[in-house]
Amino acid sequence: MKIAISGKGGVGKTTLAACLAKYYAQKNYKVIAVDADPDANLASALGLEYGKASKIIPLVEMKALIEERTGAKSGEYGSYFKLNPKVDDIPEKFGIEVDGVRLLVAGTIKAGGSGCYCPENILLKRLFKHLVIDRDEIIILDMEAGIEHLGRGTCENMDMLIIVIEPGLRSIQTAYAVQKMAKDLGIKSLFIVINKIKSDEEKKLLKESLKDFEVLGELPYSDKVRQSDLKNYSPCASDVKFYKKIEEIANKIKEFITV
Ligand SMILES: Nc1ncnc2c1ncn2[C@@H]1O[C@H](COP(=O)(O)OP(=O)(O)O)[C@@H](O)[C@H]1O
Ligand SMILES: [Mg+2]
Repeated sequence: MKIAISGKGGVGKTTLAACLAKYYAQKNYKVIAVDADPDANLASALGLEYGKASKIIPLVEMKALIEERTGAKSGEYGSYFKLNPKVDDIPEKFGIEVDGVRLLVAGTIKAGGSGCYCPENILLKRLFKHLVIDRDEIIILDMEAGIEHLGRGTCENMDMLIIVIEPGLRSIQTAYAVQKMAKDLGIKSLFIVINKIKSDEEKKLLKESLKDFEVLGELPYSDKVRQSDLKNYSPCASDVKFYKKIEEIANKIKEFITV
């Protein structure tokens, strides 16, 4: 199963990515969770202590690795480099194990201008493609809202894109923008997860604005989840009601993809 999670900043993408990854790992699946957000914090959401999490260097900043694999220095534009660098050993060599989940802090493919053709972009694109197309593990990609840099091949092979929204029109606007990108990139199926719901009334109101989407699940607002960020523990099992909903979503995804 290859799943990408996108949406506006702060809606709960990382929380959902971490909880799904941990859930599947507990069920004895092999899971690679990929942090592809420039504001990387999947490590601590998985439960890694802040001191260790803050020391992780994203792949995109590993200059020696980029040079070794592509034959060019990172940031170099227009120089000669390999378009098909070796990436298949990266999850083993550079991923770290957090509570049964293999975490890969990748960083983000830079957009526009010279960013499109620099060696670190080539390496990351190739890596994402490898993860989505060649691996047997469950892959969960924690992404920023922009998905256009992933590339068509990667997107077409992704099983599912989940857009997380929270009660608020701005996150719905972002969902529509992501939906458009997803269509252009050939993503097979797209779902919404509504997070931080405080009341049925809120839920009803939101669903009216989401008629063009299929809702995969709903997650309640939880003080324990919010505090997990402050107190540096994983949000995933901190609240029974929240976790039940995660479980429901995880099972729905499995059913949808494996049928
Ligand atoms: N269901 C929830 N209830 C309360 N707080 C939440 C919930 N989901 C996420 N949060 C909090 O919202 C903030 C942003 O969540 P995060 O997962 O980092 O979002 P994103 O990755 O989309 O930027 C964090 O402080 C997180 O603890
Ligand atoms: Mg995040």
